[in-house]
Amino acid sequence: MNYLDLAMKSALEAGDLLLQYLGKITSYELKSPKSVLTEADTAAEELIINKIKAQYPDHGILAEESGDNIKGAKNIWIIDPLDGTTNFAHAYPFFSVSIALQIDGEVVVGVIYDPVKKELFSAQKGKGAMLNNLPISVSNVDDLEISHLVTGFVYEHDWMVKKNLKHFEDFIYKSQAVRRDGSAALDLCYVACGRFDGFWEMGLNPWDIAAGVLILREAGGIVTNFSGDEFTLDSVELLGNNKVLHEDMLKILNV
Ligand code: IPD
Ligand code: CA
Ligand code: CA
Repeated sequence: MNYLDLAMKSALEAGDLLLQYLGKITSYELKSPKSVLTEADTAAEELIINKIKAQYPDHGILAEESGDNIKGAKNIWIIDPLDGTTNFAHAYPFFSVSIALQIDGEVVVGVIYDPVKKELFSAQKGKGAMLNNLPISVSNVDDLEISHLVTGFVYEHDWMVKKNLKHFEDFIYKSQAVRRDGSAALDLCYVACGRFDGFWEMGLNPWDIAAGVLILREAGGIVTNFSGDEFTLDSVELLGNNKVLHEDMLKILNV
């Protein structure tokens, strides 16, 4: 099976597994005061890792719940088995599975699956982005005043939350609406297919965004940090949008 097919098949199976747990979570662990871990996260991650390891035993794995095993690996799979765990734990139906493949330091495959809506977003470097195998592209909204934006708030760092509350306030006044939906992976996909025009967040981890950044870029969007510099998987700040709004959004983030 090629890399994209393996990523898609793994995401679909993991998504189906998540649905079996949806609405039935009666207890969960707290990794930190606000960071939830359910048995579904662990089960979905195990399923994905087993599928990848069965095909490519020498590939590296960087997965949210089981850590990394990437030393010296040329190919690294970056996995978030359940992005939006807080939503999921409360049976709020907005969450996803995110799987990316990085080869020689560059993400070349990205797949994000929303099992509730049966929406499978995918991209391959240089080949465009798809939703359920049909091409997608970013919106052409060029006026911040009519833009539909989304953000997120990290669980751990109070200073980032405070800083983002200021950005949130600024964007609320300058845009048509701002949402906080709770799955950074899907937030990026929604910008990629034009449901949102822009997304920003701080403090995300590589597994939250590796697949989504590729999907958004392949859909014609741009992703940078808040200074407008190239975004990398270890950047603290992420600004992604339809390109047209980039300068205006950067200005607001740097007021
Ligand atoms: C979280 C989601 C959320 C974002 C948090 C992430 P998780 O991932 O992507 O939207 O605001 O910063 O940690 O913990 O549900 O996998
Ligand atoms: Ca996540
Ligand atoms: Ca997760």
